[in-house]
Amino acid sequence: MPATAANAPIGVFDSGVGGLSVLRALQALLPTERWIYVADSAHAPYGDKPTAFVQARAAHGLQRLRAAGCKAAVVACNTVTGLSIETLRAQHPDWLIVAIEPAVKPAAQRSRGGVIGVLATRNTVASPGLARLIAAHAQGVRVLTRACTGWVERVERGELDGPATEAAVAEHVHPLVQAGADVLVLGCTHYPFLRPVIERLAGPAVEVLDPAPAVARELQRRLQIQGLLAAPAGPPHSELLLRTSGDVRTVCAVAQRLLGATWQVRGAPLD
Ligand code: DGL
Repeated sequence: MPATAANAPIGVFDSGVGGLSVLRALQALLPTERWIYVADSAHAPYGDKPTAFVQARAAHGLQRLRAAGCKAAVVACNTVTGLSIETLRAQHPDWLIVAIEPAVKPAAQRSRGGVIGVLATRNTVASPGLARLIAAHAQGVRVLTRACTGWVERVERGELDGPATEAAVAEHVHPLVQAGADVLVLGCTHYPFLRPVIERLAGPAVEVLDPAPAVARELQRRLQIQGLLAAPAGPPHSELLLRTSGDVRTVCAVAQRLLGATWQVRGAPLD
């Protein structure tokens, strides 16, 4: 069958394996789509890198996805969105790009006590994108931000629990809860993989928000408008082509563990 726009794959981009938390939500809503994932693992974390470096790496990653024939791209990295989304859209004015951003708006709406916490990378915390979101959607709400240094590296190594991970998570979750936050925003796509620990340490009175399902709905809506949705009655796809700048075997092993046995992860180098 000749490739058509609607049966072309969708590209997903992150600095590393964090964006797989977004991919899970995308595939749950759009099971008949095909996926190519770019993990720029050799250069992760982006959260502490200079803006120009993150912009250049993100531009390269999206360019590779486009060259692979992807009909759309999902920026599954809040840090890239916060530092670089306007640049990326300007580079590809005729390509569908959907980008994740911290769920400040729903958090502000759902907080009963008027205090929310945003867990994110240092770059996202300092980004103009997050400042804009807070100004637009969190008027009258106290927004506490925490740059969770070291969390991304833990997820990249697959260290999702254990005493050292608990201590690293507690260092940022406890001050937010003690300051009265009753909603916590997972403002980095690596953090949903720490969600069980975050929820346990935050306690049952605190709601934890992950925007990935909203990103999936937005992608579905935009694909539909452009007539690019894959046939919904087709076979479900859970094969993943994962291209990485890191060690292919190591990154694929972590990715397979994070996604679970229902996925078949196939690795290739990112050139
Ligand atoms: N997972 C990314 C994010 O959502 C990037 C984290 C990083 O590389 O520091 O921000």
